Amino acid sequence: PTIGLVCAPFSGGQPRPGVETGPLQLIESGLVGDIEALGWKVDFAGADTLESASLVSDKPDPDIGVLKKPRLVSKVNQEVSERVYKHSSNGQLTVTIGGDHSLAMGTVSGTFKQHPDAALIWVDAHADINTPLTTPSGNLHGCPVSFLMGLPGTSKDEIPEYAWIEPVLKSERLVYIGLRDIDAGERKILRENNIKAFSMHHVDKYGIGKVVEMALEHVGKDRPIHLSFDVDALDPTVAPSTGTAVRGGLTFREGHYICEALAETGRLVSLDIMEINPSIAAMEGDVQQTVDVGRSLIRCALGETLL
Ligand code: ARG
Ligand code: MN
Ligand code: MN
Ligand code: MN
Repeated sequence: PTIGLVCAPFSGGQPRPGVETGPLQLIESGLVGDIEALGWKVDFAGADTLESASLVSDKPDPDIGVLKKPRLVSKVNQEVSERVYKHSSNGQLTVTIGGDHSLAMGTVSGTFKQHPDAALIWVDAHADINTPLTTPSGNLHGCPVSFLMGLPGTSKDEIPEYAWIEPVLKSERLVYIGLRDIDAGERKILRENNIKAFSMHHVDKYGIGKVVEMALEHVGKDRPIHLSFDVDALDPTVAPSTGTAVRGGLTFREGHYICEALAETGRLVSLDIMEINPSIAAMEGDVQQTVDVGRSLIRCALGETLL
């Protein structure tokens, strides 16, 4: 079995510099060796391979409505989508390390092209389902899910710059875990589309074991799974180096349990680890701690703790 590892050193979906250096830190701290030690081969083109980021960032990229860096985010994600699809179509389990969470436009598009029947499990403090019409910030890392679902404001007519994204994601194939900071427009979208969401309240109420069980039941037991993990789902005491930290998050074990339980299904086809920002540190050790957590989440999702 082979892992297709995609590095996505990109920060254009949000305003805080540094998140583009997350992937290199993961690689330099030994991620490839970690994965090989678990018995996987690693198909990896190198840490610095995203061409479109530098290609487009020099060109003017005025806001579209309130959306910031819309052409850059689109172009980079189109490239990420092609890369993920290539690995996926070769039968590889794709691991994409970010970079900001706008990158899920690309990873989910690429994965679902190969696995149209897949389910998306989104682990995050945020729902990232704002549309171009609802986003309060204009930051595209708060919007990837709406593009993947084809919600109002994301169609080819309304925003031709994103015409390449197919609305591959059906609302019943999406489930959230860890939510605790949802914008008003997002709340409405979640309700109106009947999207299954386990907030931190549900994690407290049922326990993480039951929550993951219910999540898997909801999307259906036999589907391939794409796990998109924003490290801000974890409590800031666990993963401090991230751009939009929200207190009251998942514990170290709860986060790892999700990855282990998905490894156990044997149906994980794609994994994102997003939003590690090594430029954000209140205390010495914060960056290393966050990078180490990212590494161990990936190891657990790839079977480290399965007996
Ligand atoms: N909901 C806020 C927004 O749309 C925050 C999004 C944070 N997203 C993230 N991937 N960290 O701007
Ligand atoms: Mn988040
Ligand atoms: Mn907020
Ligand atoms: Mn996110």
